Amino acid sequence: MRQSFVTSTLLLGLASSCSAGLLGRPYHVREQIPHDGQYIDVNAQNNATEWWWVQVAAPAVDGQSPPSLHVTFYQGKFRFLISRDTFLTFRSGYPLSIIKEVSGGANAPENYIVLNGAFPNGTVFAYTLPATSGTVSHVGEAVSGDWAGAGSFQNSADLSTFTLTLDAPELGVSGTLEIHSDAPPHFGCNSTTSPYFDSAVPSDAELSAAEEIFFKQLGWTTSQPGGTARVSVSLGGSDLSFSGVGYHDQNWMPAPIDGFMDDWYFLDAQVGPYDLSAVFSAITGSTRDFNTGFLEHAGTVLQNQCSLQGSRTQDLVTITPFGVSFDEPSGVNVMSGFILEYTLKNGDLYSFNLTGQSLVLDQPFYHRWVGSATGGKVGGEQFSGVSLYDWLNPSLPLSLTSIIRYMQMPACKPPLRSMKWCSFENLESPEEPQVPAGTAVFGFATLVGLAVPSN
Ligand SMILES: *[C@@H]1O[C@H](CO)[C@@H](O)[C@H](O)[C@H]1NC(C)=O
Ligand SMILES: *[C@@H]1O[C@H](CO)[C@@H](O)[C@H](O)[C@H]1NC(C)=O
Ligand SMILES: *[C@@H]1O[C@H](CO)[C@@H](O)[C@H](O)[C@H]1NC(C)=O
Ligand SMILES: *[C@@H]1O[C@H](CO)[C@@H](O)[C@H](O)[C@H]1NC(C)=O
Repeated sequence: MRQSFVTSTLLLGLASSCSAGLLGRPYHVREQIPHDGQYIDVNAQNNATEWWWVQVAAPAVDGQSPPSLHVTFYQGKFRFLISRDTFLTFRSGYPLSIIKEVSGGANAPENYIVLNGAFPNGTVFAYTLPATSGTVSHVGEAVSGDWAGAGSFQNSADLSTFTLTLDAPELGVSGTLEIHSDAPPHFGCNSTTSPYFDSAVPSDAELSAAEEIFFKQLGWTTSQPGGTARVSVSLGGSDLSFSGVGYHDQNWMPAPIDGFMDDWYFLDAQVGPYDLSAVFSAITGSTRDFNTGFLEHAGTVLQNQCSLQGSRTQDLVTITPFGVSFDEPSGVNVMSGFILEYTLKNGDLYSFNLTGQSLVLDQPFYHRWVGSATGGKVGGEQFSGVSLYDWLNPSLPLSLTSIIRYMQMPACKPPLRSMKWCSFENLESPEEPQVPAGTAVFGFATLVGLAVPSN
């Protein structure tokens, strides 16, 4: 498996040196939390983040691109570690958009909504909508989020219906999105009580600091694993309206993601009567590679498991990338799709092909695709549908080059409130990146040299 992820494998050992100093946990885990509620407190005194993630896409029509919209309601700073004690702090949060400020100041908690996606003609867009607050409240299991000045969301008490409203007229963004779920809410592992990945490791296992965070403090809960969805938004005067399929989950963690994780692949598809997802993650400095597999057919869960890669012969998922080649804009190897194979407890086999068609985000350390999906039970009826998947490789030191280049581009300089994508290609005369004043970077030149793919 890891063999195929050439770039990240190469850099794994180097990245592990960055994990020191991140592991304090003076953050508060709440009790009595609704499935989609606020799990931890995110504030100026901690390094925690929590976000509500929503994605909708539809099949490509007539040789066009699949239309898509991703919306992330974000609390907390996304911090990108560039040395043992220096961060670049992004105002735009996960998923690593490029509005940023160099860390050190700005201690206030930050709340914003990040939009990404593509129009049917293939043009991608990215917006960051700053909010003056990000508040999540609940009545029983019904959860509401209010990001003042940017938008809001509601999840119904039975988790059947998720709706959101975008309302940032001064940035040219308004509209609605709704998902009608056809699948049961779930956690990442086979548990009704724990939103953490702890059951993947024996309870008496000795864990490194990074593993401790990954297995016990990185939370994941999926409220809407799949269902029909409708998007109707206006973006800078352009209308994006389509019906498709949607998905909603949320994550939280006490420390910057790159302090404990090297790779995170999240794959999601809706194929005929099937909703499916899978995660593959490489933890910093660890040989305990991790995966989850979720497969549901017409409302019945066929698999919902988390485990260490290679630890099982049944009740497992295998995630195999294909078509790996060099991607010029981001400077790393990327795959053109994945084969997901689910082996159930009873030995039944299901196989799906997720193929990217639209590269919605194309950064060295973050790629996101929307595309097609085909598959079903092996030997049984085959279906086609939509896939959405992304690859976050926060350990990739090369990303610093692009961050700094982005920062040097006039169009991408802060203060920014909204932007169309500032692309690497827009650089007319790329200069050697200059490290911002007051930051220290270890072995920068060497690491950049190593990030060139082989294969
Ligand atoms: C947040 O991270 C910084 C950088 O590692 C660290 O110095 C600080 O103690 C952390 N804060 C908390 C509350 O853990
Ligand atoms: C556990 O997995 C089985 C399938 O192996 C599934 O039927 C069940 O719903 C799962 N339970 C939870 C809580 O995920
Ligand atoms: C694609 O469609 C969007 C929305 O209508 C528009 O803003 C953009 O200019 C179009 N791109 C091209 C290349 O035509
Ligand atoms: C997956 O599907 C795509 C699109 O149909 C196809 O080009 C590709 O060869 C398939 N990949 C594999 C490994 O079957």
